[in-house]
Amino acid sequence: MSAARAMIRVVDLYKSFGKQQVLKGVTMEFTKGKITTIVGTSGCGKTVLLKHLNALLLPDRGQVFIDSVDITRLKQKDLYEMRGRFGVLFQGAALLDSMTVFDNVAFPLREKTTMAEAEIRKKADERLDQVGLEGMGHKYPAELSGGMRKRAGLARALVMDPEIVLFDEPTTGLDPVLATGIHQLIARTQQTFGFTGVVVSHTIPQVFEISDYVAILANGVIEEFKPTKEFQSSQNPVVQQFIQGQTEGPIQVL
Ligand SMILES: Nc1ncnc2c1ncn2[C@@H]1O[C@H](COP(=O)(O)OP(=O)(O)O)[C@@H](O)[C@H]1O
Ligand SMILES: [Mg+2]
Repeated sequence: MSAARAMIRVVDLYKSFGKQQVLKGVTMEFTKGKITTIVGTSGCGKTVLLKHLNALLLPDRGQVFIDSVDITRLKQKDLYEMRGRFGVLFQGAALLDSMTVFDNVAFPLREKTTMAEAEIRKKADERLDQVGLEGMGHKYPAELSGGMRKRAGLARALVMDPEIVLFDEPTTGLDPVLATGIHQLIARTQQTFGFTGVVVSHTIPQVFEISDYVAILANGVIEEFKPTKEFQSSQNPVVQQFIQGQTEGPIQVL
């Protein structure tokens, strides 16, 4: 991986909460226009790492570079602008229950742009079509299935044409068939929009199918980080323990 193609570079990141050290020197990069997946046991710090990528959390030590700018040092105004380059689909997909699906998808456009209502309508409808929710805009989130809510969350994450999209366990709570559907949708929208994708998941091995690179976070560090095929055949005991779901091994469960 050449540094020139890195969209995001994470350098020696440390983060503790009280006495609990979660990140203990995380270094990795996210290649532009590719999907990089982070795996690891529950509670190992995947969400904490993800939240450092758009400075929702700030590290105790270390840097996060986007286009050579260290985002851990940005001023409020620049932070806001930087976050505008991200789409996020976090756990729970946090749709606003009091709004229709259409209004949920249109919400970022109404809040953050000066687009006219007709343009907003066109764009939100287009994103709903792209995630397979054509004609569903008038429904409320509570009227949708779990899989459809994830799709609506994805439509909203993509409505601002983000350069980078963060997916935190996008398939958790879905059955394997729906999970595969969401994975395919992530891959398809990535091809359409060309965003840099960061996926946190433990839906393995299915998530490997859409991943260009895979990293495993364990014991506070990135223990292995490889193109997907090489990751899957890695003899690293940490990778083996995780893939085989063994309780005994080098991974210390927090
Ligand atoms: N804001 C916070 N305050 C205190 N502890 C936190 C906070 N966020 C995460 N943690 C702790 O950090 C650890 C890693 O959490 P997380 O990144 O959510 O794990 P996961 O890999 O399952 O996403 C957990 O033990 C969690 O309790
Ligand atoms: Mg998490």
